[in-house]
Amino acid sequence: MKAVAAMVLGALALALAVPAQAQPKPEDVIKFRKGVYQVVFWHFRPMGAMVKGDIPFDQAAFARNAEILAMMATVAPAAFPPGTDKGDTRARPEIWSDAAGFRKVMENFQAETAKLEQVAKGAGSVDQVRAQFGVVTRSCSACHDNYRAK
Ligand code: HEC
Repeated sequence: MKAVAAMVLGALALALAVPAQAQPKPEDVIKFRKGVYQVVFWHFRPMGAMVKGDIPFDQAAFARNAEILAMMATVAPAAFPPGTDKGDTRARPEIWSDAAGFRKVMENFQAETAKLEQVAKGAGSVDQVRAQFGVVTRSCSACHDNYRAK
């Protein structure tokens, strides 16, 4: 009996917990969003240092960073649910009012980071890797210029 009661309580607790997870609080989404871009930047920066020649070019390390960057680009759209434009955030309302334009810069970011991963993993020369890194950098700015507050 005790075990059954525990199971029922357990199931109840789970049922109660699920709606709370399905609707995260806007401030938690904003924390997640900043976390996504912190991870993006963490992996972007060493690649930039290699491209500039501040640290030696290490193909394996570059490829690993490029892989994580491309993966994070696929995570990013989930960080922009409606209703998360207010509070401690630099996300501009245009993200939602100009959803088609925002989708375009997001898709461009995904396509160019995927391409960077490809060339970094051996499909391209070091010069091609450098050039594609420049394209990715511009894909960051393309979004920040229009959709991130100064
Ligand atoms: C599709 C749009 C978009 C793209 C592409 C994008 N960003 Fe951002 N980024 C944002 C927005 C919007 C914010 C503001 C998030 C907030 O404050 O809620 C942000 C915030 C950041 C932050 C600050 C995070 C914090 O802790 O506040 C960093 C760093 C950053 N981006 C780096 C990058 C880099 C590097 C790239 C490219 C490799 C990139 N972003 C690509 C939209 C984008």
